Amino acid sequence: MLLNMDQLTMLASCCLVFLPYLVLGTSSAACLNGVCNISRKDLPVEQIASELGPQLSSTSNIFGPDDARWTNATERFQALVRPDVQLVVQPGQESDVPTIVQYANDNSIAFMATNRRHALTLSIGTFSGIEIDLSLLRNVTLNAESSATLQGGAYDEAVWSTLWNEGYITTTGSASCVGMLGLALGGGHGRWQGYYGLVADNIINLNMVLANSTAVTVADDTNPDLFWAMKGAGHNFGIVTSFEIKVYDRGPDTWFYKIYIWNQTKIETVFETLNMFRQGGTQPKEMAVNYGAYLVNTSISNTVYLQPVLWWSFVYIGSEADAQQYLVPFDAIEAIDVQHGSVPYPEIAEVTLTGASSGLCTPGFVHNHATSYLQTWNSTAQRQIYDLFSRKINENAQWFNSTVVMEDYAHEGVGAVDPATSAYPWREYSLLSYINVAYASNETLDPAAREWALETRDLWNAGQADLPVATYVNYARGDEPLGSVYGYNAWRLERLRGLKTEYDPNDRFSYYNPIVPL
Ligand SMILES: Cc1cc2nc3c(=O)[nH]c(=O)nc-3n(C[C@H](O)[C@H](O)[C@H](O)COP(=O)(O)OP(=O)(O)OC[C@H]3O[C@@H](n4cnc5c(N)ncnc54)[C@H](O)[C@@H]3O)c2cc1C
Ligand SMILES: *[C@@H]1O[C@H](CO)[C@@H](O)[C@H](O)[C@H]1NC(C)=O
Ligand SMILES: *[C@@H]1O[C@H](CO)[C@@H](O)[C@H](O)[C@H]1NC(C)=O
Ligand SMILES: *[C@@H]1O[C@H](CO)[C@@H](O)[C@H](O)[C@H]1NC(C)=O
Ligand SMILES: *[C@@H]1O[C@H](CO)[C@@H](O)[C@H](O)[C@H]1NC(C)=O
Ligand SMILES: *[C@@H]1O[C@H](CO)[C@@H](O)[C@H](O)[C@H]1NC(C)=O
Ligand SMILES: *[C@@H]1O[C@H](CO)[C@@H](O)[C@H](O)[C@H]1NC(C)=O
Ligand SMILES: *[C@@H]1O[C@H](CO)[C@@H](O)[C@H](O)[C@H]1NC(C)=O
Ligand SMILES: *[C@@H]1O[C@H](CO)[C@@H](O)[C@H](O)[C@H]1NC(C)=O
Ligand SMILES: *[C@@H]1O[C@H](CO)[C@@H](O)[C@H](O)[C@H]1NC(C)=O
Repeated sequence: MLLNMDQLTMLASCCLVFLPYLVLGTSSAACLNGVCNISRKDLPVEQIASELGPQLSSTSNIFGPDDARWTNATERFQALVRPDVQLVVQPGQESDVPTIVQYANDNSIAFMATNRRHALTLSIGTFSGIEIDLSLLRNVTLNAESSATLQGGAYDEAVWSTLWNEGYITTTGSASCVGMLGLALGGGHGRWQGYYGLVADNIINLNMVLANSTAVTVADDTNPDLFWAMKGAGHNFGIVTSFEIKVYDRGPDTWFYKIYIWNQTKIETVFETLNMFRQGGTQPKEMAVNYGAYLVNTSISNTVYLQPVLWWSFVYIGSEADAQQYLVPFDAIEAIDVQHGSVPYPEIAEVTLTGASSGLCTPGFVHNHATSYLQTWNSTAQRQIYDLFSRKINENAQWFNSTVVMEDYAHEGVGAVDPATSAYPWREYSLLSYINVAYASNETLDPAAREWALETRDLWNAGQADLPVATYVNYARGDEPLGSVYGYNAWRLERLRGLKTEYDPNDRFSYYNPIVPL
């Protein structure tokens, strides 16, 4: 239930007082876009629309489950948990966001911002209330001073293609479809980080709405404490309506990529070669990223007993001739298939399985996942994880699309930033790994998928037992100890909890790997 009966009565009487022109029953006349005729019998959607609607800019939308736009506006990448969205509000202008938050607060209704709805964490499932869908706030404005202003609904592909066409790039995530702030507020890994650091490291300022609906700007010289928290733990502190980010000259016209498919028999050789190639994370920043996966490719393995392969990609900011010197050791490992090419940067995602048409951008499947940050590949652990993967894939055909993913972004730009300057705590880790047990929703499968995911995470962690377990907040499952997500240094969690008490004492932003106020 969105509102109980008492609140409903109160709301009705309050609004007859404050909005005397509204006559209950014929309120749709006052609604936006004629979309107040939405009904789900147990929800006062129409009433909220009739009260809030007139306070919002004319391009805003409010709708409930019966509206044709509902499916798109509430569709999620992750189907393992579903937030209970009762009403969708799409602010048409940034200035609508404080109004919506104020209205929700006045009526004790929970709210949550969404953008591309790629959140993975299970904690999202605890939400019930108004979804503030930021998809109408997508302006990208290039500024004079090597920066761009992006609105809260910015997402990777829209940003990189717009800027590229103007001769610029900025730090973004790697998958075409993912929201810029969903990732930047947790740090933000991407193909330019070897040069320029995390997405969060490139934010100049943020315009945001606090839990109490006050709009503020945060930057190094304005609300610096909050700015610090937004860069790594930001989902806990507010709704960003727009932000300014550094932009850079776009660099070479084309990037080189090379993709190998190896038989599983090569796993040990490949990971040992990768460790030599990366030299503890000091590979050249032009070697933007190499990532790979255990996956099933039916054109290769089409026998009854599936034999997953090791798929691995390298992406280089520059020419084939310059990249090849680093790839010679990999060329020497006999492969089932090798593909390579040079394409403009905006096309790199598509050729390396992270484009708009990839499984990563396909909503609606369960992703029963688990993750760990690593510092070195442990070939023993990688073998154990493969053997488990291969066994499980063959156990149930419904798990066919599952993958084990290993990512290694160039580290120089991330390591160059003073760790004290942001809430992002893991600058000494550069390998990101996760297992994604993917399947069409089926609760019968959940317990076994979970167990497999956690067993894989345990194998990664056992493979680097001398280091504390670290979790990238944006890949978190949601069951990890807070220290492994926000950092073990006592001062980090203390500072975050203190800021939470100051800026969000009633814990309004508590759905994304939440930090609880003091
Ligand atoms: C397929 C896939 C690829 C990914 N690739 C990368 C990658 O390359 N690099 C990387 O670092 N991470 C990556 N991630 C992780 C990603 O950072 C998180 O899943 C992120 O939360 C997704 O953001 P979203 O806007 O798409 O999702 P949403 O579910 O819409 O939002 C996620 C969270 O961010 C909050 N939020 C969104 N917009 C705002 C805003 N404007 N103001 C305040 N809060 C906001 C929401 O309230 C929610 O809590 C990937 C995830 C997936 C599923
Ligand atoms: C809203 O009302 C209009 C006009 O009566 C109708 O055409 C439309 O289908 C209704 N929409 C919904 C979602 O019920
Ligand atoms: C839903 O999204 C799809 C894909 O973007 C689009 O083609 C379709 O028109 C949308 N439907 C509605 C009702 O907006
Ligand atoms: C986007 O920018 C245009 C041009 O400046 C402006 O008219 C429009 O209102 C902006 N949209 C939003 C949602 O801010
Ligand atoms: C991998 O190599 C083994 C041993 O040579 C072979 O039996 C198997 O068919 C190969 N698998 C694939 C997927 O090529
Ligand atoms: C699957 O294998 C075929 C044959 O080697 C190859 O052409 C194709 O690109 C592979 N697909 C993926 C997703 O790796
Ligand atoms: C695998 O993914 C494809 C494409 O997204 C989908 O069509 C197919 O049904 C999935 N298979 C399973 C077993 O989930
Ligand atoms: C759910 O999974 C179970 C176990 O594999 C299977 O028996 C059942 O048919 C599945 N249900 C659906 C609807 O696919
Ligand atoms: C690699 O992983 C194995 C299995 O967990 C472990 O025994 C070994 O100590 C690890 N090696 C290193 C160098 O940590
Ligand atoms: C909202 O919260 C901020 C931060 O705690 C505070 O500075 C501001 O005064 C509050 N605004 C109102 C209207 O209470």
